[in-house]
Amino acid sequence: MIPSAPDPVPTPTAPAPAVSMLRLLGGFQVSQALYVAARARIADRLADGPRTVAELAEAADLRPELLRRLLRTLAAEGVFGYDEPQDRVTLGPLGHTLRTGAPGSVRNVALMWMETHYRPFAGLWQTLHDGIPAAQAELGMPFFDWLGKDPARIATFSGAMGDMMRTVRADALAAVRLDGVRTLVDIGGADGTALAELALREPRLRGTVFDLPHVVAAAPALLRDRGVADRITTEGGDFFTAVPAGADCYLACFVLHDWNDAQALRILGRVHEAAAPDARLLLVETVVGEGTPPEVATLLDLTMLGMLDGRERTRDDWRTLLADADFRLDRVLATGGPMCVVEATRMPRTARV
Ligand SMILES: C[S@@+](CC[C@H](N)C(=O)[O-])C[C@H]1O[C@@H](n2cnc3c(N)ncnc32)[C@H](O)[C@@H]1O
Repeated sequence: MIPSAPDPVPTPTAPAPAVSMLRLLGGFQVSQALYVAARARIADRLADGPRTVAELAEAADLRPELLRRLLRTLAAEGVFGYDEPQDRVTLGPLGHTLRTGAPGSVRNVALMWMETHYRPFAGLWQTLHDGIPAAQAELGMPFFDWLGKDPARIATFSGAMGDMMRTVRADALAAVRLDGVRTLVDIGGADGTALAELALREPRLRGTVFDLPHVVAAAPALLRDRGVADRITTEGGDFFTAVPAGADCYLACFVLHDWNDAQALRILGRVHEAAAPDARLLLVETVVGEGTPPEVATLLDLTMLGMLDGRERTRDDWRTLLADADFRLDRVLATGGPMCVVEATRMPRTARV
């Protein structure tokens, strides 16, 4: 018998453009699959080693035959490992990012994005016509107003901001220079994660976490927990009305990008009124075209488009905005990550005609 020739082994080729596009288009399904995995704490349950699908399904009270299909999809994305013959699941290269509290975890972002951002994005088409953020149309009110109506939503949002701070913004916080700064106000400082970090690094620093009253309410416990409550106070208020006065440095981390230029100018106006004469202003933000990888800034810009009135800004946009509020842009510090530190100095008020 003549042995049959072995099947030719296909040489790997780059995926066809249609396949690449289908993966992008399918992103909405993968997002939801990741949400289910995050909510069911699958990655947490694998922290001590492999488990079978049946064990995971029982622990999470999910249907095993359906969970198996979901995990197989996420295994193809590098989130889990799946050994089909043994029906065994392990953590994949990205698995730790869904583990609660693990270094590099964005599990809280998975929960927040799918619970608050996912639905509004179905309205993006209309936003491109009328300019109303899709979230405002979906929720019937501006996003931050909606958030403030439910303590559970605030907790989810603050948890996600904490994840962002410890991951994509960690480099930026490390790059913040506070030489000579004695007092600092963190505008929109949420639960105090950032200022606690800076206070631990700078033992003589005193400061205030300033945010909406229902958001900053979480900060005292966090500051006590980090051992800095004797130096860092908290204050609730509205940064469109007034911010704490007299500090020699004001920090706004990931705040001004939430607002359009007119709104950002009002916030900067309140900082200008409150700040000491030569006070420094530090913005931790993306600078479009300057962070790495650059697509974080453009993706965040899309988030702003759908959720809020804000936008990500270029270096020139920042310079102009700051100048219009009588601050001088001193320099933009690259941080090795997607965020930059924009350093500015308060200038005397110019008389405007
Ligand atoms: C994108 S979050 C950034 C939080 C934090 N700085 C961080 O980097 O994780 C924006 C913050 O601005 C706060 N904020 C929104 N509107 C505000 C207002 N009118 N007055 C004070 N804070 C406000 C929100 O509550 C939220 O904590």
